[in-house]
Amino acid sequence: MSAVLTRLSIKPLHPLFVAEITGVDLTVPVGREDFSAIWDAFNQHQILVFRDQTFDDASQIAFSRNFGALETMEAHPGNSFNPGHIAVMTNLDAQGNLLPLTHPSMIHRLRNEAWHTDSSFKPVAALCSLLSGRMVPPVGGNTDFASARAAYAAFPEARKSALESLMVIHRVAEPKDINDPAYNEEQKQRLTVTHPLIRTNPGNGCKNFYVGSHAQEIVGMAREAGKALLDELTDFCTQPQFVYSHPWREHDLVIWDNRCALHRATTFDKTQYRRKMHRTTVAGRVPDSAMATNPQTGAA
Ligand code: OGA
Ligand code: MN
Repeated sequence: MSAVLTRLSIKPLHPLFVAEITGVDLTVPVGREDFSAIWDAFNQHQILVFRDQTFDDASQIAFSRNFGALETMEAHPGNSFNPGHIAVMTNLDAQGNLLPLTHPSMIHRLRNEAWHTDSSFKPVAALCSLLSGRMVPPVGGNTDFASARAAYAAFPEARKSALESLMVIHRVAEPKDINDPAYNEEQKQRLTVTHPLIRTNPGNGCKNFYVGSHAQEIVGMAREAGKALLDELTDFCTQPQFVYSHPWREHDLVIWDNRCALHRATTFDKTQYRRKMHRTTVAGRVPDSAMATNPQTGAA
């Protein structure tokens, strides 16, 4: 039997996180050895960039399933109330025309321009998201990523023990959006959940803050004090030294670890340029979500 030759290579794009992987075509079934290298790189680097991956939705879904079961999107104006496995992030209507800035989908998607981590408002939060650049503007429209793991490592040691066991309430809608018709009452209730402030990767033991725009209150703290601490931590995590900004090329695929990285969309001239990104989201695993427990023993 001859060994399969793989030319997969991994190159860091930032001193603290983010790697570009070349030498593998993700649009066709990926071998066990290659996926295992991708999985290890994902856990180490948090953000993976692949170029020239000419996905359609079926091949994107098929590749994404290597990471685990896919989330089904919540119905909201940003996806035309059309749940499925592909979330379309675009400034175009179904015919490919530019949407006016006042369109509900455009207003809804502005939320992506705040630092967040996908699906932190679900009881089992997302493991990772895979975003495929189908149509990208010539300038602007980068996606920014922040390593909440590198930030945790750099955070003053003396303050860490007081934060260790805090629990945080995440909501799909912010209090100021309480009358926002984007989500119905059932969704607002179901998508209000509690997660630990500090999460640990079960494979390598690295810790990080789990914050961002959906994190709104700390259990047992006054609302304002909790929000102020969460804002401070999100600001700490998103300082320039912990941030990588991805300039998109068509057919890029970027995968991010929602457990330990924050991200945000950045603006572009939406009245002139077309941008269309297709996202699949892989559901977390229950033990990963209950990060207050020891992944080895299951003990609290
Ligand atoms: C997302 C997201 C950012 C972007 O797809 O979850 O936040 O730049 N996208 O489109
Ligand atoms: Mn997002």
